[in-house]
Amino acid sequence: MALDARFSTFETLSKKIEARTARAGIIGLGYVGLPLAIAVARSGFAVTGFDIDPKKIVALDARRSYIDAVTSEALTAEIDAGRFSSTTDFASLSDCDVIVICVPTPLTKHRDPDLSFVEATSRSIAAHLRPGQLIVLESTTYPGTTDDIVKVILEGTGLKSGSDFFVGFSPEREDPGNQHYHTATIPKVVAGDGTQALSLMKSFYGAVVSTVVPVSSNATAEAVKLTENIFRSVNIALVNELKTVYAAMGIDVWEVIDAAKTKPFGYMPFYPGPGLGGHCIPIDPFYLTWKSREYELPTRFIELAGEINSAMPRYVVGKLAEALDIRAGKALSRSRVLVLGLAYKKNVADIRESPSLRLIEIIEERGGKADYHDPFVAEIPPTREYQALKGRNSIDLTPEAIAGYDAVLIATDHDVIDYAALSKSAKLIVDTRNVFSRLGLTADHVIKA
Ligand SMILES: NC(=O)c1ccc[n+]([C@@H]2O[C@H](COP(=O)([O-])OP(=O)(O)OC[C@H]3O[C@@H](n4cnc5c(N)ncnc54)[C@H](O)[C@@H]3O)[C@@H](O)[C@H]2O)c1
Repeated sequence: MALDARFSTFETLSKKIEARTARAGIIGLGYVGLPLAIAVARSGFAVTGFDIDPKKIVALDARRSYIDAVTSEALTAEIDAGRFSSTTDFASLSDCDVIVICVPTPLTKHRDPDLSFVEATSRSIAAHLRPGQLIVLESTTYPGTTDDIVKVILEGTGLKSGSDFFVGFSPEREDPGNQHYHTATIPKVVAGDGTQALSLMKSFYGAVVSTVVPVSSNATAEAVKLTENIFRSVNIALVNELKTVYAAMGIDVWEVIDAAKTKPFGYMPFYPGPGLGGHCIPIDPFYLTWKSREYELPTRFIELAGEINSAMPRYVVGKLAEALDIRAGKALSRSRVLVLGLAYKKNVADIRESPSLRLIEIIEERGGKADYHDPFVAEIPPTREYQALKGRNSIDLTPEAIAGYDAVLIATDHDVIDYAALSKSAKLIVDTRNVFSRLGLTADHVIKA
C-alpha cells in the first residue's frame, strides 16, 4: 500500500487503475451497488463490497443474489475468481484504492433531501482515508453534494482533495428489468474535483463500461442525473393530464400516443399510468426543488408534475367506482377489488413508492375491500407509509378467485399474467396500462383508466 516516492499519488493510482491492480470498494450493495460491484469485478478489478446490513453479506457469502439484475451464477463466478468478497467491516476501506458510494438518498417526512446515509458513509470513509484514494459518489442528489458535503467531510481529516486523495461523481443509470441494457453497456457520465480526479474517473469507469461521458464538474454531473429524472416525471405528468382530458372527450390517449409516435422527429412517447413509482422518479426531482430555494427560484414544472402524478391513484379509483356503479349497480364501498400488480413497474419485484399501495389504501378508505396479486411479491413487506398493509399475501390467480371479485384493477402489466384467462373469469376489468388493447383483448367488460 506504500506510495512509491518517485511518483505522485495521482500517477501511482493511475498506474494501478490501468494495470487493474487497484482494489475497488463499493459501499451500499443494493439495486445500484451490487450490479456495479459485479461489473467492476468482471472487468478485472478486485472488489470488496460493504454494507451495514449483515443479512446482505450472509446472502452474498452464500453466493445468493437478492437483486434481479445479478444472477447468483454471475456472483458465484466473481467470488470463485477471487475478485469479489463482501463485509460489514469498514476498516477494510483502507485497502481500497477506489471507493464508490451507492447508499440511499431518500426524502424526509417533509420531503426534504435526507443525506444522512451519504454523510454517515463519508464519515466511515474519513475514518480510514489514506493518500492515493479515489472516492466516488454515485447516489442521486442535488448539485453541490459531492463537493460541499462528501469532500468537506473527507478534508476534515487534514488530507486534501486533488493532491492527497481524489473525489468524483458519476450518476447511476440502472434500469431494473431492462432486457437491452445493463451496467456495462449504459454510457456513464463522469466528473471529478479537478483535472486529475476527472482523469482517474475516466480511466476507472472506462475500464468498466463501454462509453464514458466526461463533464466539467461534479455539480454538472449531479445536475445531469436530476435532469434525466425530471424529464421523465414531467413527461409522464403531461400524458397523465392528457389522459384525463381525452377520456372526458371520449378519446383514447393510448391510441393518440401510438399515432403521434409515428412522427420520426420531435416526439418521444411517454405512457400514462396509475401514478409514479420506484425509488427515483417520484423522489429525485424534489432534491432540485429543495436546492433551488437557496437561490430563491421556484421549480414550477417539478411541483406541477408531482401534483398531477400523485393525483393519479385517486383518479383511477374514481374511474373504478364509476364503472362499478354504472355497469354493476354496485357502490365501491360494497365491492371487492383485486389489484393486479403490486410492483411499480412490470416484471420486477420492487414496490418502493408503488402506486398500487396507494390504490389499495384509497379503495379501503372508501369502504371497499382490496386484495392483490403479484407473481413477484408474495407478501407486502414493512413500509414506512403503508404500515397497515404489512404482511398481506398475494392471492392465487385461479378462475374461481377472479370471479369472486367485483372488479380487477390492472396496476402493473407483468408479462407472465395470462390476460386472456383473466378476461374470461373477471366481471369487470379496469386497465391503467392499456395491456388488453395491446394484446388484442378488448372487450365490453374491460375499461381503461
Ligand atoms: N434503484 C435504481 O434503479 C436507481 C437508479 C439510479 C440511481 N439510484 C440511486 O442510487 C442510490 C442507491 O439506490 P439503491 O436503489 O441501490 O438503494 P438500495 O436501498 O437498494 O441499496 C442501498 C444499500 O445501502 C446500504 N446502506 C445504507 N446505509 C449504508 C451505510 N452507511 N454504509 C453502507 N451501506 C449502507 C443499505 O443497506 C442497502 O443495501 C440512491 O441515491 C438512488 O437514488 C437508484
